[in-house]
Amino acid sequence: MQDLFFLQSSFIIGAIWFVIPAYLANSAPTVLGGGRPIDGRRMWRDGRRLLGDGKTWRGLILGVLAGTLVGLLQYFIVENENSYEAIIRAFLISFGALLGVIIGSFFKRRKNLERGESFLFVDQLGFIIVGTLAVLIFFPFTIENVSFMLYNETISFDFIQILLYLVIILPVTFAVHVIANLFWYLLGKQDVPL
Ligand code: CTP
Ligand code: MG
Repeated sequence: MQDLFFLQSSFIIGAIWFVIPAYLANSAPTVLGGGRPIDGRRMWRDGRRLLGDGKTWRGLILGVLAGTLVGLLQYFIVENENSYEAIIRAFLISFGALLGVIIGSFFKRRKNLERGESFLFVDQLGFIIVGTLAVLIFFPFTIENVSFMLYNETISFDFIQILLYLVIILPVTFAVHVIANLFWYLLGKQDVPL
């Protein structure tokens, strides 16, 4: 039944599967990042930092690497997927995710928000949206390009399905972030609840 396809378990599993490298790319720099900032400590015309010290080359490179490696591991778990496409897709969603975070920081600095200060929705969803866009721009919107077998379920995406995937993945991601942040806040590891 195509009319309910986005509620099928294989589609929801596929959506989560697809986005796993972006989650890794987004979270790895917190642990692996540091060092030289991407903006070279340069200022924008408003006199504030272009991106800030929270965006480093090491975080970007190791984050993309971590997400791509997880994509490679995923490739070995599924069947019938083209290896080049699987790895390029993991690379693109990881790179796009961290590009989304960089764009987010640019706008945070323009809004005079300090490093680490919360910018609702941008902080939680920017990495998913730009990550997904990076994949969409690169791949033609055909079913064959994102299609594989996971535990005997065929997972495939076309353009409309990718948009529906966002309908599922955006609220899920937002909820995951809110719960994780609340958890860190209650443990006293974070000053703000969001
Ligand atoms: N990080 C990094 N390089 C990146 C992205 C992140 O080194 N390209 C590290 C930084 O130490 C950063 C941490 O990961 O502080 C958390 O990332 P993020 O939440 O994106 O940065 P914030 O500290 O919240 O800074 P901002 O206000 O600019 O979003
Ligand atoms: Mg942050």
